[in-house]
Amino acid sequence: MNTRTSSDRPARRAGPEAQIPPDLFRQVFRHWPSGVAIVTSRLAGERRGMVVSSLCSLSAEPPLIAFSARRETRTHRVVEASGVFAAHLLGQDQVDLLRRFAGLDRVHDDERFAGVATIAAATGAPILPDAVAWIDCQVVDRLEGAGFTLFVGEVLAAALGSQADDPPLLYLQRTLRRLGPAIG
Ligand SMILES: Cc1cc2nc3c(=O)[nH]c(=O)nc-3n(C[C@H](O)[C@H](O)[C@H](O)COP(=O)(O)O)c2cc1C
Repeated sequence: MNTRTSSDRPARRAGPEAQIPPDLFRQVFRHWPSGVAIVTSRLAGERRGMVVSSLCSLSAEPPLIAFSARRETRTHRVVEASGVFAAHLLGQDQVDLLRRFAGLDRVHDDERFAGVATIAAATGAPILPDAVAWIDCQVVDRLEGAGFTLFVGEVLAAALGSQADDPPLLYLQRTLRRLGPAIG
């Protein structure tokens, strides 16, 4: 596994005095729509999972995906230690699952997997088969930033889930949304 830190990079970064205000950064990215996914992992008997909007596809050959995890999340700790994760694409009717794995549903905060069906595929990370699709990965690279890690996963197994016919759940302007009609 490769690990890069900010100190490895060439000195092309602007100094703190040139950084844009965080509010402006957030304001700009609120205009970038994304899907939402749940990333899960397992370390021995401990299962963790959280909602991410930072999931992206990097390459089909070789099959690589990536997501960013804030370092204080429990899922970050378990992915870092286990070196495996599974990503699950959510459908428009899975808002309850999203709330649970984003920690917005206090009842389930420490028991996010209670009553949720799981299976194991290649890596042993808990797979939620009732998603639109799932992707089981081994961590092959990491980029360490200030307060977050970008984990790059090689896809060892993937499949459509039981909700594969559902349109995706979307996130834009801090709001969950449904897909509109195709225009092009
Ligand atoms: C729409 C949405 C997108 C999110 N995307 C991310 C993300 O990309 N990375 C991240 O670290 N947290 C993200 N979060 C926050 C985590 O899901 C949340 O902090 C979670 O409770 C962490 O759980 P854990 O500490 O049990 O791992 C997102 C939350 C929401 C609602």
